[in-house]
Amino acid sequence: MPNVNILVGTMYGGALDVAEQVKPLFEEAGYTVSISEQPTLNDLTESPDSLSLFCVSTTGSGDFPGNFVNFTREIKEHPALTQVRYGLIALGDSSYGETYCGAGRALDELLQDHGAQRLGERLEIDAMETFMADDAAIPWVESWIEAENLKVAS
Ligand SMILES: Cc1cc2nc3c(=O)[nH]c(=O)nc-3n(C[C@H](O)[C@H](O)[C@H](O)COP(=O)(O)O)c2cc1C
Repeated sequence: MPNVNILVGTMYGGALDVAEQVKPLFEEAGYTVSISEQPTLNDLTESPDSLSLFCVSTTGSGDFPGNFVNFTREIKEHPALTQVRYGLIALGDSSYGETYCGAGRALDELLQDHGAQRLGERLEIDAMETFMADDAAIPWVESWIEAENLKVAS
């Protein structure tokens, strides 16, 4: 059975809520799902076959949430993540201007710099436009699963 690990970076719980709302979609599609609220590098390296889905909000001025800081430091110190396949949901607020979704964008760049492969486009959820983040996340995850299944089937 395929496995997906949802890695959460959050200050106020919105990104965790997204992770919990999309979890059943993976289960219905036949995946086993785990949610990491305190992600570590082991989450990416211990099971090379699993998919990773990041749900990450931005705090400060484009900064990573507190529970994500050590994790990104670990990635920077790790040479290669070429086995990692991931999707990325970034939560932010466009009223912050240039730092909009800064953490999600920086994470995406960091992962790719280390050889990880993103599946599909990054989803950015703007709190200025989308009151309930799930409204944007659920359809995106449905499409993401479908694309991934097609990939497996082909
Ligand atoms: C103190 C603070 C700083 C923030 N800074 C940014 C930012 O620089 N860029 C951005 O896109 N959103 C920023 N946001 C908006 C949050 O990323 C957004 O509200 C998100 O949905 C919060 O998700 P969370 O509940 O998972 O922490 C900030 C919010 C707060 C409260």
